[in-house]
Amino acid sequence: MITTTSLLQMKSAGQKITMLTAYDYSIASILDEAKVDVILVGDSLGMVMLGYKDTIPVTMDEMVHHTKAVVRACNHSLIIADMPFLSYKVDVRDAVHNAGRLIKEGGAIGVKVEGGAEIVDIVSAMIKANIPVMGHIGLTPQAVNQMGGYKVQGKDSKTAQKVFYDAQCLADAGIFSLVMECIPYKLAEEITHTLPNTPTIGIGAGPHCDGQVLVSHDMLGLYNRKAPKFVRKYADLTSIITGAVENFSKDVRGQKFPGIEESYE
Ligand code: KIV
Repeated sequence: MITTTSLLQMKSAGQKITMLTAYDYSIASILDEAKVDVILVGDSLGMVMLGYKDTIPVTMDEMVHHTKAVVRACNHSLIIADMPFLSYKVDVRDAVHNAGRLIKEGGAIGVKVEGGAEIVDIVSAMIKANIPVMGHIGLTPQAVNQMGGYKVQGKDSKTAQKVFYDAQCLADAGIFSLVMECIPYKLAEEITHTLPNTPTIGIGAGPHCDGQVLVSHDMLGLYNRKAPKFVRKYADLTSIITGAVENFSKDVRGQKFPGIEESYE
């Protein structure tokens, strides 16, 4: 069974960390059986499960609901749940209370929050309440409206310094791991090497991070959006499912399903 401390042991041993998203019992069972190290109940569920345009509308109740389903499926993977937009940046007490809901009601082991130096007091309060926190810097999708779209962050030296500073502040606050999204790979490498006690997990941050995360629906070809450059599609489940559904309809319409062997006497 993977714990928050396993990730640091893996970093120290040079063993790469695998992380994928899951939002429901069936997919989480498959990932857990396949021994993925970390399962993230990401707020990307807003898009891939609920059909929202972005992650902004996702609520605490939705996160708790999906986290419970994932937790029921898992015996091996470490389960981390995302804190949704405005559930942690308004008030420190609310932040700790909401993070506590994902742990107490949802059953997650830790929470993930987006942001850098500006949320250090919030992260510290959660950690003081014994809630393990994973950071998320670089492209932070909850800030999409402020960033003016989904863009690579830290490309020039001033913004790179800001990303680096954010990573350092969160590490000093005691996060157990750090997601870095859409930053230049050399910057990700530098952060990874500078923070020996903070396992880094990249998404669009190159090969030198301590681990890698993808949205499962993207890598399985289950979500028909134009995928970003960093996605590698390992399967095309959309076409497999479409074929199966068309065959089912053909068989029913052609009176080929069900057969007698699929019926009761
Ligand atoms: O919500 C999510 O799926 C995420 C990953 C992209 C890291 O935050």
